[in-house]
Amino acid sequence: MPQPTSRRDWLKITAALTAGLSISKNIYAGEQQKPFPAAMILLNSNENAYGPSANTIKAMADAAKLSNRYPDDIHPLLKQQLATHWNVEPVNILMGAGSSELLGLTAILASMKSKTMISPFPTFGSWYKVAELMGAGIKKIPLASGDKTMDLAAMLSAIDNETSLVYVCNPNNPTGTVVKHHLLRNFVEECSKKCWVLVDEAYTEFENIPTLSDMALKNQNIIVAKTFSKIYGLAGARIGYAVAHADTIKKLAALQPWPDVSVSAVTAMAAMAALKDETFVAGCRKKNAEARTMCYNTFEQLKLEYIASAASFVMVNISSIGERYTQQMQNKNIFVQYRDFWNGKWSRVSMGTLEEMKMYCDALKEIA
Ligand SMILES: Cc1ncc(COP(=O)(O)O)c(C=O)c1O
Repeated sequence: MPQPTSRRDWLKITAALTAGLSISKNIYAGEQQKPFPAAMILLNSNENAYGPSANTIKAMADAAKLSNRYPDDIHPLLKQQLATHWNVEPVNILMGAGSSELLGLTAILASMKSKTMISPFPTFGSWYKVAELMGAGIKKIPLASGDKTMDLAAMLSAIDNETSLVYVCNPNNPTGTVVKHHLLRNFVEECSKKCWVLVDEAYTEFENIPTLSDMALKNQNIIVAKTFSKIYGLAGARIGYAVAHADTIKKLAALQPWPDVSVSAVTAMAAMAALKDETFVAGCRKKNAEARTMCYNTFEQLKLEYIASAASFVMVNISSIGERYTQQMQNKNIFVQYRDFWNGKWSRVSMGTLEEMKMYCDALKEIA
């Protein structure tokens, strides 16, 4: 097999292999698939190296034959399952092709009210360009300089009469930091008196961080965004959803040409199987925590500063290594992120399998 030199090359090779091999018998047998070609260690996009689970893959394969029909009959089943999971009603849920779709829709909805939005910084900013296209300006409030959590006091005091949206990401991407639950609840409650609050819970499952969806049920200004891309290992299947008050869901749904329909039949069946697969989720949570500890130990050994994370990635300060870090990692077929933050060079390293993380740590020891 040729050695891929970039993520795109890897995808090309994988596509060629898939075309040649069709779906492997092992997938139908429900056996665990080998996560990625051993040559390529993808630690740059916060995907789940273990997923989808074998049960989920089987559900997807079985569902393929439903693809000639629109998924209207399947969606209510999934929405009921999600509603039971979060102790809400199906009318409190709107689905999309990943939570990114719901973040974008919320930005559009908020921009209809007024044009200033507030975001912690750095954070997950995929919705910024939608907001900006709608004419909104975004006030980016730096994370607290010490522990790199969201600076709730500064965000609160940035709200004025023009503010239409406050975005909250907990755990935050790229830092993995969390705000104490009671502080976050108070903050969200306070902000919601003045504008929309979008609570992004993409990574809560990695540490069983309590959801704020109960608040969204009672308060029309709160929208909680969830995804199957992370602990459930379905980033490529594209499914996320919003949990909110029924009236708020109606407003968001009005922005979709056909509510919920970006979720295909195959993806909906995958999500139902994934949600039930608690053993897989618990396994991912455990191995993710072990992988983080392995990284922390290596960083400490190498005297590299890092940010303790509650998510599926860790930020490490690689200023002492410099720009050769990314290339040298890539030479070993390890793909990592490299960014300028807080007057230094940092890498956000997504957790791969334990085997992959051992290879990353060994590589880092050599490079550093
Ligand atoms: C904080 C956060 N929110 C949302 C998303 C979007 O995920 P998706 O659109 O795959 O559901 C991501 C993806 O990395 C993320 O990190």
